[in-house]
Amino acid sequence: MKTLIKNGRVVDPSQDIDEVMDVLIEKDKVVALGRDLRVYDARIIDAAGMLVTPGLVDMHVHLREPGYEYKEDIQSGTRAAAAGGFTSVACMPNTNPVADNKIVIEYIKSRAARGCGVNVYPIGAITKGLEGRELASIGGMKKAGIVGISDDGKPVMNARIMENALRYAAMFDLPVISHCEDSNLTEGGMVNDGLVSTITGLKGIPSEAETVMASRDILLARRTKGRLHIAHVSAAMTVEVIRWAREIGIYVTAEAAPHHFSLTEDVLRDFNTNAKVNPPLRSKADVEAVIQGLKEGIIDVIATDHAPHALDDKDVEFDRADFGISGIETAVAVTLTYLVDAGKLSLKQAVEKLTINPAKILGIDRGTLRKGAIADVTIIDPRLKKKVDASAFLSKGKNTPFDGMELKGWPVLTIAAGKVIWCAGGLKEDVKIHAAV
Ligand code: DOR
Ligand code: ZN
Repeated sequence: MKTLIKNGRVVDPSQDIDEVMDVLIEKDKVVALGRDLRVYDARIIDAAGMLVTPGLVDMHVHLREPGYEYKEDIQSGTRAAAAGGFTSVACMPNTNPVADNKIVIEYIKSRAARGCGVNVYPIGAITKGLEGRELASIGGMKKAGIVGISDDGKPVMNARIMENALRYAAMFDLPVISHCEDSNLTEGGMVNDGLVSTITGLKGIPSEAETVMASRDILLARRTKGRLHIAHVSAAMTVEVIRWAREIGIYVTAEAAPHHFSLTEDVLRDFNTNAKVNPPLRSKADVEAVIQGLKEGIIDVIATDHAPHALDDKDVEFDRADFGISGIETAVAVTLTYLVDAGKLSLKQAVEKLTINPAKILGIDRGTLRKGAIADVTIIDPRLKKKVDASAFLSKGKNTPFDGMELKGWPVLTIAAGKVIWCAGGLKEDVKIHAAV
């Protein structure tokens, strides 16, 4: 079984490639890249006018299984990922039971194996039950296949425990993904502490709550030589402390979520719970700083923090609504519209942050179209304009502040291990796609 993707603009930062060429896939592997490849017994995908990238990697998603299947499950979450152009996702452990031991990790992996073909890489908890008190069994979870540890959704408030986590995870070569929040500063907060908290009277979450913890963790990373990764950077000062850390040679990587580089707190003026997220949407200056951080490479990764919630969790009074945005199906379009089309990032930079950079941090063999690599491929129509329609999401979570907005540049076809796992319009075989020119 051979597939030939013809005449697409192949953008693969792992090989410094950005040119029109063909990609030949045989079984589950990339076997050739080149101009005018001729193969007589291959299925042809005409990708003229399209971008052809390595299958996208999202290192921060919430698949909610086990325990919160009414919000999302591994099947619906991975189908949503495929529709968003992602072939690999790393899922956070704030499930019920918490993914803090190898039994839950094995369960997630077995459910994912029966999924739609998207690779699921579990992240284990840092502390038992996400309670911040006692380290989880990191060695056991590593054997079961985790690619990192995180208490995402909650901070690790005790610095000694965080220090031990960084030291211990380093022995297993695992990144520690830090949800930076000082809970004494954020307690009861719901929106950014600033303009909108003043206008609405909703309690604010100061950006210092994030930066204080990022600073602490950076100092602990220096002390332990651990592999620190800062999740969902939202504040200008956090970008500054990461910049400082890099300048003096402390190992730290970071990610930003699409909503944090595209939207400001302004969208919360009308109490839209679909824009209630943690960390919160912040000021224009913060958004600009996050974009600058992405541009300068201080922020290495674009990760969605896909946080699906049920209507009942969101269609309630603002203070009772859950935090989170269902973001995996709009990430590519938000990135292309707000970063690439807007001239802030080159296409290569954007693709790098969605492929090889997260793959390297997680230590997974993905994010590249190198000859011999597993054939995970994403095809994107850079000119396609479409309005976001949350009701049509494959995710169970329809909670998005982008609903109804027109965005430009959407995935049209997703291939995992050589198989078409999603195609716009629902075509599965005999694939025909057309550029929207
Ligand atoms: O908005 C958020 N939602 N932020 C988090 O840190 C957790 C996440 C969730 O699990 O819903
Ligand atoms: Zn998260």
